[in-house]
Amino acid sequence: MEAQITREDALSREGYRHACHIMLYGDCSAKLFGKIPIKHIVLMQMRFDGLLGFPGGFVNPSKETLEAGLTRELLEEVGEAIPVGVENHVSSCLATSCPLITHFYIKKMTEAEIREIERAAVATATDHGLEVLGMVRVPLYFLKNGGGLPYFLSHSFISNSRAQLLSALQRCGLLSQGELEKAVRQAEQMRR
Ligand code: GTP
Ligand code: MN
Ligand code: MN
Ligand code: MN
Ligand code: MN
Ligand code: MN
Repeated sequence: MEAQITREDALSREGYRHACHIMLYGDCSAKLFGKIPIKHIVLMQMRFDGLLGFPGGFVNPSKETLEAGLTRELLEEVGEAIPVGVENHVSSCLATSCPLITHFYIKKMTEAEIREIERAAVATATDHGLEVLGMVRVPLYFLKNGGGLPYFLSHSFISNSRAQLLSALQRCGLLSQGELEKAVRQAEQMRR
């Protein structure tokens, strides 16, 4: 697991590249099959390399702030220059295999705003169909035989984005600790 550092420490280091990614999420009143509450919409994306990850990308702190760089990446990848502030920052991590620091952000939006982002991601994002193959919603519910979150977690994720997802779900209180442990356990069983 990658080492966590502060945003300040991250920016004081030389010789590292920086990447910023964000979890955009909102509450949702819809029910799957008319009975299973969706509860929350959490957005991730299918990347060009076939891996799941969060929207965002490389930022150059000598030319832009981390947050302005993330907003620029969001314009490219989801078609909207969503404002991001320091208050949205939740973690900075030293990557294990290369001199890279990954910064993670979380922003809560309304259901209508999330739906508008999903439209823009197809309609106006310049990276749509290129670096981004599509936005996906994370299923947060449990169906029979590992359906829902366990199957979602059994896919392959870029860098530490799977750990970022799990810690964000806990931090935002979208799932209980017990539910998260159950999902991880079931996902491990399917990967064998
Ligand atoms: P280019 O335009 O091709 O440079 O891509 P980009 O700027 O959109 O960069 P990308 O989103 O691929 O992120 C840069 C690097 O950060 C990747 O090479 C991964 O190592 C890492 N990365 C990508 N997505 C995530 C993510 O969701 N979480 C974390 N922790 N790292 C990620
Ligand atoms: Mn990008
Ligand atoms: Mn990207
Ligand atoms: Mn980029
Ligand atoms: Mn690019
Ligand atoms: Mn890319």
